Amino acid sequence: MKSARTEKTLSEAIAQRRATPSFDGAPIPAEDLRQILQAGLAAPSSYNLQPWRFVVVQNEEQKKRLRGAAYNQGKVEEASAVIVACGDADGWRKDLDLMLHRGLEGGMPPGYADQARDSVTNYLTSFSSDEMHGWLNKQVMIAFTQMMLTAETMGYDTAPMEGFEQERVHEVLRLPLSYWVVALLAVGHLKGPEKFDGGRFEMGHTVFGEEFGKPLK
Ligand SMILES: Cc1cc2nc3c(=O)[nH]c(=O)nc-3n(C[C@H](O)[C@H](O)[C@H](O)COP(=O)(O)O)c2cc1C
Repeated sequence: MKSARTEKTLSEAIAQRRATPSFDGAPIPAEDLRQILQAGLAAPSSYNLQPWRFVVVQNEEQKKRLRGAAYNQGKVEEASAVIVACGDADGWRKDLDLMLHRGLEGGMPPGYADQARDSVTNYLTSFSSDEMHGWLNKQVMIAFTQMMLTAETMGYDTAPMEGFEQERVHEVLRLPLSYWVVALLAVGHLKGPEKFDGGRFEMGHTVFGEEFGKPLK
């Protein structure tokens, strides 16, 4: 069992984070894993519907099976834990009452709750399957990013992954049909050399001010 080595500030974690190429496989203490997951669960989501679902894979055999569903990427098996980040397309149907109940307990105005019930239902029932997947991707990736950066602040190394086969991950994890697998987050400790730093485009390449094409002053 290997705890995190160093605490980093958020800006240090953002500056120093790399997509980790290889992990040493030492298990993560359960309380550290819970802290990482808790950071994801604290994320914002549309109407606070929290449609994310996470499956944490730590068992050696299960990691091996998951690797097979992820184009044989070695880090899936080497990581201490792989957090499989999913969205549940039916989550809002099941959780709307709970979300409103919690909201009302926390001071949500009752008029807002009545309005939210209608607008959530109208909005989400209008979605095609592709639109629902796009909506889930948005929500789940915020929680995913909060977990990734929290793990990094705790001194862990991480690797985000989209290289997997949706249906095969479903089979390995025995996921309900309404689940949509968004991304895998490998967490652990780097083994061997760090990946090269590919750098980033300068701000003028990707950021505009006021309208497309105008530089930010
Ligand atoms: C959503 C997402 C999916 C990714 N999927 C993979 C993957 O399946 N396999 C992999 O080796 N790297 C994957 N990466 C890592 C990227 O290649 C990496 O973040 C990028 O090259 C920048 O490098 P850096 O993160 O070290 O700065 C993924 C990154 C993101 C954000």
